[in-house]
Amino acid sequence: MRPYLGWCEGRVWWVEGGPYLWGMPTRPSKLPHVGTTIFTVMSKLAAEHGALNLGQGFPGFPMDQRLSDLVHAQMLAGRNQYAPMSGVPELRALLAKKMQVAYGFSYDPDAEITITAGGTQAIFTIITALVHAGDEVLSFAPAYDCYAPAVELQGATMKWVNLRYPDYRIDWHQVRAQITPRTRMIIINTPHNPTGMCMTAEDMSELQSIAEEHDLLVLSDEVYEHIVFDGGRHESAARYPELAKRSLVVYSFGKTFHNTGWKMGYVCAPAELTAEVCKVHQYNVFSVNTPAQYALAEYMGDASTYSGISEMYEAKRDVFNRALQGSRFRLKPAVGAYFQLLDYSGITDEGDVEFAKRLTREHKITGIPCSVFFPNLQDDKVLRFCFAKQDDELLRAAEILQSI
Ligand SMILES: Cc1ncc(COP(=O)(O)O)c(C=O)c1O
Repeated sequence: MRPYLGWCEGRVWWVEGGPYLWGMPTRPSKLPHVGTTIFTVMSKLAAEHGALNLGQGFPGFPMDQRLSDLVHAQMLAGRNQYAPMSGVPELRALLAKKMQVAYGFSYDPDAEITITAGGTQAIFTIITALVHAGDEVLSFAPAYDCYAPAVELQGATMKWVNLRYPDYRIDWHQVRAQITPRTRMIIINTPHNPTGMCMTAEDMSELQSIAEEHDLLVLSDEVYEHIVFDGGRHESAARYPELAKRSLVVYSFGKTFHNTGWKMGYVCAPAELTAEVCKVHQYNVFSVNTPAQYALAEYMGDASTYSGISEMYEAKRDVFNRALQGSRFRLKPAVGAYFQLLDYSGITDEGDVEFAKRLTREHKITGIPCSVFFPNLQDDKVLRFCFAKQDDELLRAAEILQSI
């Protein structure tokens, strides 16, 4: 039998006579390239070494208790049975209004908005519903890790355009060069995980013309829509009416309200695309947590619950970055999302995975090596640190990093 090619922590490994699972021959995997993620590996290492973990991307401070109280009140009021498949009408109506106010696009709350179990389920459902075997899907590396497995499970092929350090801007000539008659969809992510890059109005205009020219769908992952810094504007696909007509725009309540564990999100898309998405959604999760939906509808009625998030995170970014001034790490301040990249090339030539592990073991501080977000493992010698943490934690982290 041919040796089996697999991945572990983003590194290639070979097994004779595979595929193998815990040493036992098994059926061929549908996702042979997927191994334990670096997040699991680094978090485990951080726990073993008692390291300060700024690796995994979730808020390290409490959500607003008023929102959890509202959920409790909905439970006590008996809202504990299945919600309608696409979401409770009150929440969909509110989101339609929010999209109109924020981005100027009118979505029909009944036919064009679907509440999902988080952004990841929305992305998986969209790809399953709209990407066919043999299609190609284009996206940008480094990338959030859930796009490629969803595409591959459809028998489709992922194609990548690499973003270039240090700005990680999109080279649209490269995008055009990668489009073929089989290209079906482009996946964008703005603000971007892991780089903090935000797409500009010019980017959106390029995207729109390419998508129109080649009749492509656009999956626009905008889960960090409310985290944009330095007075910048979030360039949603929904801002551009011609683009919005071919886009499925994905959001996450967890990123906005600091409750990633609730796994709540939504998709806005034209009716004919939403209809296809719902065909999968109804047999995938059917419907999403009822009391949380009613509570969110009530809570978000007050726009101040989400309007100050950029300022809050910008202050955290600045606390972290200021405390790093004079260190041997180099940085360009993130312009969106809640991740700061630190360039360590002035410290060592080590590969980023090795360096991240050594930082954890020897200095008790954990970040994520960025090469794992690239399918070709491009190593720019940068680590990603999540600054959605309490200020004292950020200061402690910076103090350790200053000592390296
Ligand atoms: C870019 C990006 N998209 C989607 C998600 C998933 O969001 P959710 O937690 O709502 O599934 C994440 C979470 O980290 C993310 O970083």
